Amino acid sequence: MATMEIVGGTQLKGTVRASGAKNALLPILAACVMLDGETNLTNAPYLGDVNIMLRMLSSLGIRAEHLSNDCIHIVNQKKIRHIAPYDLVTAMRASFFVAGPLLAKTGFAKVPMPGGCSIGTRPIDIHLKGFEALGAEINIEHGFVQLKSKEIRGAYYKMPFPSVGATENLMMAACLARGEAVFENVACEPEIVDLANFLNAAGAKIEGAGTPTIRVQGVRSLQGISSYSVIPDRIEVGTFMVAAAITSGDITIENTCFDHVSFLAEKLELMGVTIDHSGDLIFVRSNGTLKAIDLETAPYPGFPTDMQSQMMTLLAVCEGTSKIKESIFENRYMHVPELVRMGADIKLDKQYAFIKGVSKLSGADVRSTDLRASASMVLAGLVAEGRSKVHGLKHLRRGYHNLAEKLIGLGAEIYQ
Ligand code: UD1
Repeated sequence: MATMEIVGGTQLKGTVRASGAKNALLPILAACVMLDGETNLTNAPYLGDVNIMLRMLSSLGIRAEHLSNDCIHIVNQKKIRHIAPYDLVTAMRASFFVAGPLLAKTGFAKVPMPGGCSIGTRPIDIHLKGFEALGAEINIEHGFVQLKSKEIRGAYYKMPFPSVGATENLMMAACLARGEAVFENVACEPEIVDLANFLNAAGAKIEGAGTPTIRVQGVRSLQGISSYSVIPDRIEVGTFMVAAAITSGDITIENTCFDHVSFLAEKLELMGVTIDHSGDLIFVRSNGTLKAIDLETAPYPGFPTDMQSQMMTLLAVCEGTSKIKESIFENRYMHVPELVRMGADIKLDKQYAFIKGVSKLSGADVRSTDLRASASMVLAGLVAEGRSKVHGLKHLRRGYHNLAEKLIGLGAEIYQ
């Protein structure tokens, strides 16, 4: 399994460019099942998860290829197949995003149940109740979810919890429905707004994305888009902000949207980090000891669960005791034993983590357990004394484009 060797102790300095958002790109690619003709996406990074979604589109009869310079070209001209392959859905839960578009476009979708993953059981009940509200007949047999409907129709559905994936799946399905669909208590993440902007550019009529109520007026068809640029990846941007803070660095991040990371900027400023922004640039500077803080993960605009493990690494080397409450996933502390092996002082109690700052971490062999946890291991390696070896980088490559190369560009000492 691939490893990354990091020699800790370098202050990061210079400029780094963030890539496009994986979590916006994945549903946008799934939505291409519904768009007739050709579509070009830019700011679309080459990542493990994106590659799985491109293979999914190909398996459904859509030509989808990554060109150079972060561009993806999609041609949807043939009859769509409506069965999603088992290996692609089990390799990546977000493959389930094709369920809504397939149902809307062909009236039928057969998609494997995604199952749980290392961070939690991750049910799909909210997706299914929403599809049912839109008039779909649902059967779960032999590990597959089958959705069937002669005609998807507008409906009212209030989500019991603002699930990001369910909001995206239902919003997509409703685009080709008859009449108006109203979804309440939906998720408000920037990636949902980006998906809605993309669909509206293709001819959809979506209002309210980014607020708790979304209205979708169904249209007959959606057309390919000659060029659409995906929003910057706020979690990658956030990871670089933490990297600057933890190394007492001074960096500029390009291709960002400050509003999308204001949750994190506020917390870092409270700790003593200096943050400025101008246009699509964010400047992060840190010197001296940082102070402990408390934080709780929550749906957007709250603190994102996808930044929890990276922040924990930073809090592990701050002055004082911090408390984290993980409110989104039930098992998202898999990185804790690895941080403890590097000398961190962290105690877990159900949803809570109590982090007593230590003066230093010491380099060690550590293993990555999921995508964001692996980023937290890399951050720990940047600040630890001596050499660290991060194992299991397949997780990291699912969602970070050239993370090692970008950190090396900022002065980090990394070997792969
Ligand atoms: C998306 C993101 C992921 C992020 C998460 C929360 C993508 C590709 N992934 O995942 O990086 O960590 O949002 O911000 O965009 N739930 C149910 N029933 C459902 C759906 C969800 O109980 O039908 C629960 C989940 O188990 C979890 C919580 O709701 O505990 C949040 O899940 P959700 O918002 O759906 O996350 P994803 O869309 O899977």
